[in-house]
Amino acid sequence: MVAELLLAAAIFFALRAVRQRRAQGLAAWPVVGMLPSLLLGLRRDMYEWVTRVLSRQNGTFVFRGPWFSNLHCVVTADPRNVEFMLKTKFSSFPKGDYFRETVKDLLGDGIFAADGAAWRRQRRAASFHFHSAEFRAVAVRSLEELVRARLVPVLEAARRGGSAVDLQDVLLRLTFDNVSLLAFGVDPGCLRPGLPDIPFAAAFEAATAATVARFVAPTAVWRTLRRLRLGPERSLRRAIAAVDEFAYAVIAARKEEGGARGKDDLLSVFMRLTDDEGRPFSDKFLRDICVNFILAGRDTSSVALAWFFWLLARNPAVEEKILAELRRVKKTDDSSLVFLPEEVKKMDYLQAAISESLRLYPSVPVDHKQLAEDEVFPDGRKLKKGTKVVYAIYSMGRMEGIWGRDCKEFKPERWIRDGRFVNESAYKFAAFNGGPRLCLGKDFAYYQMKFVAASILLRYRVHVAHDHPVVPKLALTMYMKHGLKVTLSSREQDTDNP
Ligand code: HEM
Repeated sequence: MVAELLLAAAIFFALRAVRQRRAQGLAAWPVVGMLPSLLLGLRRDMYEWVTRVLSRQNGTFVFRGPWFSNLHCVVTADPRNVEFMLKTKFSSFPKGDYFRETVKDLLGDGIFAADGAAWRRQRRAASFHFHSAEFRAVAVRSLEELVRARLVPVLEAARRGGSAVDLQDVLLRLTFDNVSLLAFGVDPGCLRPGLPDIPFAAAFEAATAATVARFVAPTAVWRTLRRLRLGPERSLRRAIAAVDEFAYAVIAARKEEGGARGKDDLLSVFMRLTDDEGRPFSDKFLRDICVNFILAGRDTSSVALAWFFWLLARNPAVEEKILAELRRVKKTDDSSLVFLPEEVKKMDYLQAAISESLRLYPSVPVDHKQLAEDEVFPDGRKLKKGTKVVYAIYSMGRMEGIWGRDCKEFKPERWIRDGRFVNESAYKFAAFNGGPRLCLGKDFAYYQMKFVAASILLRYRVHVAHDHPVVPKLALTMYMKHGLKVTLSSREQDTDNP
């Protein structure tokens, strides 16, 4: 009798699961919800799996997590919904308490986690700084110096030695040094011959990875581990202590030097400002600001460039067009091959190729909001206050309904009109977010990526190792899981001996 009842229940739930799969995109089971489908997706390519479900469901579906988990959410790749969240009803869709709580130990009250007045104040000050002539001058100067004196010697050593190098690692080191200079006015020296281990960089990476792990564990579990100082929470605590040690030492040194007068890094800018009561910002808040900017600037342009070089290796015709443009644009005939800002500005086809690469491999593949009010999406879906909404930026780049039938192809031409680069709506191409929280570093990031890509491409042919597996890693940013193993040959030698 019991066996018959169990069989009947199994058939009932299986039939219900099939019906739900048709209606909701995924089967939902008692207790575990849609977790089995998610685990299957994780075993394959998670981003592709989400994209397939979204395509079947007209761009939006509800993910029902297991009971007592934090995994329930609405997932969307519909540009109408994304515009509604990021712009039209911006104040109804903050980052929310769940996100803030989860990242608080690492990011504190910095711009990434903040909402409301705390976010607005930082955004206003940082935006003013990012758009100032001084910041631009420092950004251009420090990048040029890093490429000329550090990136090129490291790549040249790899070419001479004929050894394979992990290009993603090299680029991460470059952007880490670059953004530390802009945030703290300090060069950690990650990109140097021999690619040394830098404790601050290693701690930063470990702290980010352990923070990401919190998003998949039930909140009660990571909180208990934190209280008991066990497992990943123990490593997180240690890593954050090392990040803090570096940050507070820089802040103390800046104060000892007599303050921030005459300096153009972000830390100095915020040291000159005061809070709403006219008091200087606390060291803790200054630390939060800098750590958030390093996170924003390190893992984004570097991984974007790694995917760009991988795509170029598979699309030699695009590489040829970029080279033709670079030779046309480069007027100064100096052997250092350093580009002037006005030359970088004229690289329209290169900008198109980088944008196309970001469309297919956005550095931030998914992002999320939490409702502060009940709302109704433009697609008619009702949303309750407190609901988490994930917008799948990776999937948006691969929707036929958004980009057409050739959406999976790498075609920089889709960004070019009358020979010039033309931007797309931020709600169709959401790689840099949109609305009031549009990426603050977008212009700088394009400049940096174009400058670095052009500097490498004019000097070297980049050969991706044939046996090297290239797959995305599940993280906050779209790392290549195994890096990008390449060898380099000189562009000149290649033209001499085709
Ligand atoms: C390819 C390069 C980059 C991409 C794809 C990118 C993408 C993004 C995205 C998607 C966000 C929204 C994140 C969120 O709200 O959860 C964002 C925000 C931000 N980005 Fe970028 N980013 C890039 C480079 C940079 C760089 C180089 C910097 C600074 C040096 C930077 C600074 C920021 C800041 C400060 C924010 C926070 C804006 C706010 O919340 O008001 N980004 N970026």
